[in-house]
Amino acid sequence: MDNTAKETRMRFCEYGQEHVFKFWEILSEDSRLRLLQQAKSIDLEYLSKIIQSVLHERVVDPQFYKDIQPANFIKRPNSATDQLRCNEIIQLGEEKIRDGKVAIFTVAGGQGTRLGCVIPKGTTPITPIKKKSLFQVFAEKIRAAEKKYECQFHWVILTSDRNHNETIEFFGKNDSFGIENIHFIKQGLMPAVDFDGKILMESRDRIAMYPNGHGGALKALEQTGMLTMLKNRGIDTISYFQVDNPLVKCVDPYLVGVHEKNKAQITSRMVKKLYPEEKVGVFCKKDGQLYVVEYSDLPRECAMAKTETGDLKFCAANVGIHLFSVPFIEKFGVTIQSEIPYHASKKTIPTIDNLGEPLMPDSTNGITFEMFIFDAFPFATKNIVVESKRSETFSPVKNADGLDSPKTCKQDQLRLFAHWLLQAGADIPTDANGLPPFDIEISPMFADNEKDFLKKWAALEARPAIGPGQYIE
Ligand code: UTP
Repeated sequence: MDNTAKETRMRFCEYGQEHVFKFWEILSEDSRLRLLQQAKSIDLEYLSKIIQSVLHERVVDPQFYKDIQPANFIKRPNSATDQLRCNEIIQLGEEKIRDGKVAIFTVAGGQGTRLGCVIPKGTTPITPIKKKSLFQVFAEKIRAAEKKYECQFHWVILTSDRNHNETIEFFGKNDSFGIENIHFIKQGLMPAVDFDGKILMESRDRIAMYPNGHGGALKALEQTGMLTMLKNRGIDTISYFQVDNPLVKCVDPYLVGVHEKNKAQITSRMVKKLYPEEKVGVFCKKDGQLYVVEYSDLPRECAMAKTETGDLKFCAANVGIHLFSVPFIEKFGVTIQSEIPYHASKKTIPTIDNLGEPLMPDSTNGITFEMFIFDAFPFATKNIVVESKRSETFSPVKNADGLDSPKTCKQDQLRLFAHWLLQAGADIPTDANGLPPFDIEISPMFADNEKDFLKKWAALEARPAIGPGQYIE
């Protein structure tokens, strides 16, 4: 160990990061080993380039957005002909699903800082009555689809070092909610640095390392050998979604059909942006390529621009639901990964003081580095964006209170369940916003979309009267 330790320490010295080993002399053998292993996993040359670009340059030149245009998208069907066309596409998607060509991929490696997570976000109780976790909701949607399409899906869950063991434990305790083919893969980590670019220590023998963003997801699929395993099983499409949105269709035959029909590399769901300042990224195009432009980067004149009919011009909000073709992910691993930028976010990072004692700063003291999955989009030669109804697609849990919180997510679920019941002719009171005055819940195992709900409800021999606490399964 001595020689390797010497070399590693010298390298850190060359890059001005020698403080990482400040307490080396008083560390135990075990602690030294741990620190050394962590230190060796860091590519210092790469890190210093990223620090340089993030601290001293803008990730994207503001000029870039000058001539950005709204992206084209496939609108929701609004005529009988549209619906017929849509049904054909659904059929195509269903065939592909039945043939076992689609795997499911949930990215759950984030930290859920805004929600104040001390547990993996996917384990957060989310449904109105049964308080099912986000993971259970997805599992039940997947099991319902397995039953419907008489197939078994491979479900891959991306974790990070910071929540991997707890996530696996949670699934273990719950018998994986009945899912047979479940896989957990870990994403990469990046050290956090202070505002001078110095690596932050979490303790005397531990560098503060954080997950490298959802942009690390595709690389993780490839690097862990998961992609090869899926490919060897005949899978050619990956259905990607974020852990924070219980309204997502984990298995979406229409989206799969569109992807297949267009031989797309990436096909994404979008919902209409609600108001100009809404904090969502929007799909845009420039020089024939698709981009997601973050709300903070979209020039104000673009955010405010309206069409002739008074709608927002840049209206296609990204909701983090995408299909990726396997060959695209392979290409990503080989050539694209190193091209996509790291974004810095200022964070309050627990660290140590000069004496090596724990220090919890009361304001931001450094930055973490993340890649964004959508920075891969311009590298695809065929991207498709498909509109969907927000009320049946997207209600993320991001914040502890206010917008996109557990409270709004519960209300969105209640509204959706009440809407299905009303469409089915059931008697349920709702206010002007479609919200029932009491809690109800529909299990994804009964139905996870309106069409299936109407069919199942009509086929019930005895339909329950809808009142407070009604759970339909
Ligand atoms: P967010 O950008 O909302 O981040 O992630 P977050 O970590 O969940 O929450 P904050 O920002 O700390 O409050 C969107 C999705 O991407 C995943 C998250 O788990 C979530 O599903 N993600 C994010 C990863 O898988 N890895 C990451 O490094 C970051």
